Amino acid sequence: MGETWAGGQVPGPRDDFAEVTVRPARDSDRRTVGRLLVLGFPDKFAPVFGPDRERTAAVLADLPPSGTVYVAEGAGQVVGTFTLVLEERTPSPLWPILRRHLGFGAALRAFVLLQLMGTSHPDPQTALVEAVAVLPEWRGRGVGRQMMAQALALARRAGRQRVGLYVVEGNAPAFRLYTSLGFRVQRAHRLLWTRPLFGAQRILYMTVDLGHTGGAAGA
Ligand SMILES: CC(C)(COP(=O)(O)OP(=O)(O)OC[C@H]1O[C@@H](n2cnc3c(N)ncnc32)[C@H](O)[C@@H]1OP(=O)(O)O)[C@@H](O)C(=O)NCCC(=O)NCCS
Repeated sequence: MGETWAGGQVPGPRDDFAEVTVRPARDSDRRTVGRLLVLGFPDKFAPVFGPDRERTAAVLADLPPSGTVYVAEGAGQVVGTFTLVLEERTPSPLWPILRRHLGFGAALRAFVLLQLMGTSHPDPQTALVEAVAVLPEWRGRGVGRQMMAQALALARRAGRQRVGLYVVEGNAPAFRLYTSLGFRVQRAHRLLWTRPLFGAQRILYMTVDLGHTGGAAGA
């Protein structure tokens, strides 16, 4: 498993632009996407599922996604992922899945924490982008920007007026990426469990109006 966690083939210098192909995830990508999320959000998932990363990836691979999962492929491997949520999700049956992977106590804990972490879909004109993550070895090479451009293009094609996302305050790489694409902070959430669960004072809700993204959203 060590090679997989390291991200497989390591590309050249980090400042090289890496062109990737973005496509909807297949069933066979689920475990890879789970691993990507564990690597992308270690501070978020360790308190929920415990320190075993492979088990966490397995649970995440089984959980029903909140929208359509996309992956970015570079050099023949999946190097990034994001989820596009076009409409209000129907509540998913988390409990049986958590129980399949975890003991009763751990499943209960994960269930409660996942409810607290959940985000709501703001309105039918808005598409949400969630679970954006790039393999550590591939960061800083334009993969995140290409994925976000695709996400905006897909949302526009689906007739949405804007795209929204939640980002933990202090996540500088993500915040800079989003602001450079025109996203602006609409509101900040500060709840009792924000700091223990997310390690930050506030969660920021950002949106971009698709009428004003110009060429940034791509085709
Ligand atoms: C956020 C993340 C997806 C960005 O992906 P990426 O492929 O590294 O981003 P890119 O190479 O496309 O860079 C796009 C922009 O992001 C910003 N950025 C990327 N890495 C940065 C860093 N280390 N510090 C500051 N800004 C950074 C820059 O504005 C950059 O634009 P520029 O290259 O023109 O300066 C990636 O860092 C990641 O997976 N992080 C962990 C998971 C996460 O935090 N996801 C976001 C949750 S809301």
